[in-house]
Amino acid sequence: MAVVNLGSINADMVYSVPHIPAPGETLAATGFRSYLGGKGANMSVAIARAGGRVRHVGAVGADGDWAVRRLEKAGVECLHVAQADEATGTALIFVDPQGENAIVIHPGANAAVPAQALQDAIEGAAPGDWFLTQNETNLQDEGMRIARDQGLRLAYAAAPFDAARVTALLPLGLSLLVLNAVEADQLRRATGQDLADLPVTDVIVTLGAKGCDWIRGGQVRRFDAIPVTPVDTTGAGDTFSGYLVAGLDSGLGMEAAIRRAQAAGALMVTRHGTSDVIPTSEETDDFARNRA
Ligand code: RIB
Ligand code: NA
Repeated sequence: MAVVNLGSINADMVYSVPHIPAPGETLAATGFRSYLGGKGANMSVAIARAGGRVRHVGAVGADGDWAVRRLEKAGVECLHVAQADEATGTALIFVDPQGENAIVIHPGANAAVPAQALQDAIEGAAPGDWFLTQNETNLQDEGMRIARDQGLRLAYAAAPFDAARVTALLPLGLSLLVLNAVEADQLRRATGQDLADLPVTDVIVTLGAKGCDWIRGGQVRRFDAIPVTPVDTTGAGDTFSGYLVAGLDSGLGMEAAIRRAQAAGALMVTRHGTSDVIPTSEETDDFARNRA
């Protein structure tokens, strides 16, 4: 099987800071590094590292060849990553000593993904494949509709949260919706509904150090997290989502897919950086075995 992922590609500029800067404050960083990032790219890399087949749909600017090469090197198919007349997306990321972050994104080319690239990528997919997207590009709505009509399973990691987008996509009948706790609250408020009552087969709510909840058929089941000392939580949620979809696509049951995704996400929290440092399946399985 395979995953078509419509998602963002960013140049992440990551500053290690003593604390998240306050208004009017000028702060000296204790470290700086740049990475390939973007929630979309991170999820595609996670799927590839998990052992899955993933076709990325997105856009970079004329300055974005390096990003495409890096995705390809990670094992992501980039035939449908277009070049747009906008600069490659960027993200300014502050990481504090507790591993918490604050992120500012500039979409650039991510908001200019051509419809043709999306169409071509989905046309090449087979019924039963997955279509995955987030909220950092244009065309989510079109993507979900075309993918559903082709018989693909729909997965949505609804970050950064946008109530209008999420409520517009819900009626399409999602197979999988992944939210963090804040997003879950925002969605409850936007729909006035309990998550268990949404037209979604499986809802996963990630809870950071508390693990995650799996909601199916009105039942909620908690999966405790693997405890780690956080260094940088950036990209951990994306790693979790990518591994989760890759696991389901490879035929794992939900429970096994969640546990593997949790291990990959936990390991990611112990590492500085985004796409470039997403754990491989060997690293993930070793880590899970040693923690069991
Ligand atoms: O979720 C982390 C990601 O959010 C970063 O890689 C950054 O690019 C933003 O998209
Ligand atoms: Na990290």
